[in-house]
Amino acid sequence: MENFLSVHDAASVHDLIGLAAKIKAAPLDYDKTGQHKTLINLFFNPSLRTRLSTEKAGVTLGFQVITMDMAGGWKLEFEDGVVMNLDRAEHVREAAGVLSQYCDVLAVRSFPELKDRDADYADRVINAFVKYATVPVVSLESAIRHPLQSLADCLTIREHRRSARPRVALTWAPHPRQLPQAVPNSFAEWMIHWGDVDLVIANPEGFDLAPEFTRGAEVVHDQAAALRGAEFVYAKNWSSYSDYGATADLPDWIVNEEKMALTDDAFFMHCLPVRRNVIVSDGVLNSDRSLVLQQANNRTWAAAAVLAALTD
Ligand code: CP
Repeated sequence: MENFLSVHDAASVHDLIGLAAKIKAAPLDYDKTGQHKTLINLFFNPSLRTRLSTEKAGVTLGFQVITMDMAGGWKLEFEDGVVMNLDRAEHVREAAGVLSQYCDVLAVRSFPELKDRDADYADRVINAFVKYATVPVVSLESAIRHPLQSLADCLTIREHRRSARPRVALTWAPHPRQLPQAVPNSFAEWMIHWGDVDLVIANPEGFDLAPEFTRGAEVVHDQAAALRGAEFVYAKNWSSYSDYGATADLPDWIVNEEKMALTDDAFFMHCLPVRRNVIVSDGVLNSDRSLVLQQANNRTWAAAAVLAALTD
């Protein structure tokens, strides 16, 4: 694996999930993997889980880990040929080149602006680091994908499924603010490429995800129909792709006990952070069907598998 930006970078989704499970079962067997190597994590946006689980993964494998919040760095220019006489003091060419001399793996988090769809879907920031870095680049969530979250979600489903091919319902849920499509894009992409689940996606009219991520999944606009018979319910809000960045005030899309009763005694999943009693009721989140902490735990093992695969 050269970089880790999406499911397409994994030679085999099954093998990568398997490696995450193996490291989780016996982390000490892998504690020399990153010996004499350095991981740099670069954050353009806030984080709790991604930052700490990736740091923990690096330390577990023996990497030296350096994390930098770019709020404390120079503002970067990403366009070529620009006269840099405004507020951007450093070009990504130099930044990526310099960082590549300090580390063996460079991990980057950069969210979309949700104003210009073409600009966001070009995934400019992460792709600029791939272009100019001379070391492998890992996505810690880009403008359009969150692959480490999705790999952790695959592992969590593998650990908890009751049937060989469970029905997994990804449902849009309410939120007071405009959110990216990165998590649901990535979740759909990984579920489809993994091939071990039947994915159904439920969202209001006008909130269909980009077809490039959902081709192969059933997409419906009836939440109850999607939840019926599901073994896993994955809730997430996302803003509109077609009316780019638009939101909707639809509180009835909350996942609550009544909705969960439609399922096949499903587990509830969410990537976190989650807004209680907006996205999901306290009752569901506090129940023994909630896997949100297990998902967050598996972020460490997903990151460890990716770091091991990149430095193999
Ligand atoms: N799920 C997730 O990526 O959490 P953070 O934004 O806290 O890293």
